[in-house]
Amino acid sequence: MISPMQPAGSALVPPLVVDRRLRRPLYRQIYDGLREGILDGSLRAGQRLPSTRSLAQELGVSRIPVLNAFEQLLAEGFVEGRVGSGTYVVHALPSESAAAARSSPGPQAARAGRRTLSRSSAPLERELGPWFGGPGPFRVGDVAGDQFPYRAWARLVARHARRLGPDLISYGPRMGYPALREAVAAYLRTARGVRCEADQVIVVSGSQQALDVAARSLVDPGSAVWMEEPGYRSAMDAFVAAGARLVPVPVDEEGLDVAAGIERAPRARAAFVTPSHQFPLGSTMSAARRMQLLDWARRSGAWVIEDDYDSEFRYESLPVASLQGMDRDARVIYIGTFSKVLYPGLRLGYLVVPPDLVPRFSSVRRALDICPPTSAQAVLADFMREGKFARHLRRMRQLYGERRTVLTEALRQELGGTLEVLGKQAGTHLVAVLPSGRRDRPLCERAAEQGLWVMPLTYCYLARPRLQGLVLGYGGTPTEEIPAAVHKLAAVLASGDGEGG
Ligand SMILES: Cc1ncc(COP(=O)(O)O)c(C=O)c1O
Repeated sequence: MISPMQPAGSALVPPLVVDRRLRRPLYRQIYDGLREGILDGSLRAGQRLPSTRSLAQELGVSRIPVLNAFEQLLAEGFVEGRVGSGTYVVHALPSESAAAARSSPGPQAARAGRRTLSRSSAPLERELGPWFGGPGPFRVGDVAGDQFPYRAWARLVARHARRLGPDLISYGPRMGYPALREAVAAYLRTARGVRCEADQVIVVSGSQQALDVAARSLVDPGSAVWMEEPGYRSAMDAFVAAGARLVPVPVDEEGLDVAAGIERAPRARAAFVTPSHQFPLGSTMSAARRMQLLDWARRSGAWVIEDDYDSEFRYESLPVASLQGMDRDARVIYIGTFSKVLYPGLRLGYLVVPPDLVPRFSSVRRALDICPPTSAQAVLADFMREGKFARHLRRMRQLYGERRTVLTEALRQELGGTLEVLGKQAGTHLVAVLPSGRRDRPLCERAAEQGLWVMPLTYCYLARPRLQGLVLGYGGTPTEEIPAAVHKLAAVLASGDGEGG
């Protein structure tokens, strides 16, 4: 059995060519090919070579020349044999070979002529900042990994692995696994007030792909798109990649300022909103603003993209119903994700699109990656149908509610006089606004040095930031660790803003 420490590529057959018409003996051709692979790094230290039998078979030669080539490599110290487990590239190459390996030229970008990249992708290549490091306290987007029902999940994974048959092995339906689409539609109708049938649900790999599909389906290069300011940077990225012109529209305690949007770009193609829990400030969009937004969309022929990423977690009242549920003109594209309610590594989310847009959206989705991974969808469908999802949600709402309370209390005790806390009624993060004159980025950089992964609020602004603050995720921070982490954060704040702060 291959040990888990094997380098990737172990026992694979390298692309050797042998030619019987050459005068060079076969063993020599095989030896040269393998030696070259070791020297140029395509075969790495510790990597297992294929067995002599399988290599001989692949090359269409007898085992003798392969054995001879291996013996030569062994004698020269390029490979070593381990009894019963095969032949491996040595860890320490003979010194003269190592020098040759270092000097072997790879592809040389500098002398390869013009290398034009797309203009729309340039803004995506930016420094993300140290606050996405971790793992550790306050990282935005983390969930309670210590509380995930691993055993129940593993049983379902095992069930589907055992039953792996043609329906899961071949390409799946491009809209997603039917049982999962049914389960999602039922959940959204009941819990989120979304008006939908399963045939409007498209399963995607998280909200990020949902945004990508929406942007590619709705937006042309140069189209104006309203973005909440401050807002969700990854959504901005998806629209930028599609060539959109982003129009920052301010948010206040009622959510997106629709009048300001109309003033700035009345004929925008689309508006991106997080109405249940504005990211990052946390306001809930008021009924009046929702009506105003839908009214503008109807009159101007614009689309509204609703990202309902964490609305399940609301602590002081019932979850607020979706904006999509109020839409009478089929203008809202609804996006949801399992990243918050289950875990982000799962990479599963969904779009709910108006029926007339289904053919376009599903075709765009097919062009991106054909269909979602089938097995994970089958597992999730059972997890939902068997009531495990609802149970997990209830437990997590309770747990995140506790973490939220412990965090706000610790912030009040340690920093009560200096910080204003926003958005604590829902979700898995909150914002602590800094007093005027303080700058969030140097603070967050220093917090990261202390292992505290606090995101600066200014990271979420497209234009000039109006507020400086700290975005604190608490979903993935164990309750008992929160007070000490806040204490540490208070010490960072007490030591000033650093350079020029
Ligand atoms: C506003 C918003 N939408 C969506 C997501 C989740 O994205 P994804 O589903 O791609 O993991 C996040 C995660 O932090 C978020 O903050």
